[in-house]
Amino acid sequence: MSHVKKYRLSVCKGADCKDNGSDAVFVQANAAVSAAGVAPRCEVFRGGCYGLCHLGPNVVIREDRGQPIDPFASDDFQLNFEPGETYYWKMTAEKIRRVVAEHIGADRPVDELRGDPTLEDDFRKRD
Ligand code: FES
Repeated sequence: MSHVKKYRLSVCKGADCKDNGSDAVFVQANAAVSAAGVAPRCEVFRGGCYGLCHLGPNVVIREDRGQPIDPFASDDFQLNFEPGETYYWKMTAEKIRRVVAEHIGADRPVDELRGDPTLEDDFRKRD
């Protein structure tokens, strides 16, 4: 039997990203996980702030390899650039539904929705 992947999906929750729709992204993430029947393989969290508010709402998905959750870990406050970590930026309700369906449902990260954490611009101010 093939190995079944598990995931931890985290939606940031700082004030800027809340203003920009992160609450709706979180609601939709939970709804999409339930609708896709993948709740046993994916925990949905409200993370902290990744310092990327200008690119948010931000979602980080990490493979859950059974590592214990350390409340003092930096996981919810920065990207760790580890294998199994995927960063999605500019999330909307519609995009998170797609991410859940493909990344979690089919174990296939959605490359075109991945973010670039090195970008300093505020995409909202660009034309
Ligand atoms: S609140 Fe979303 S990255 Fe800061």
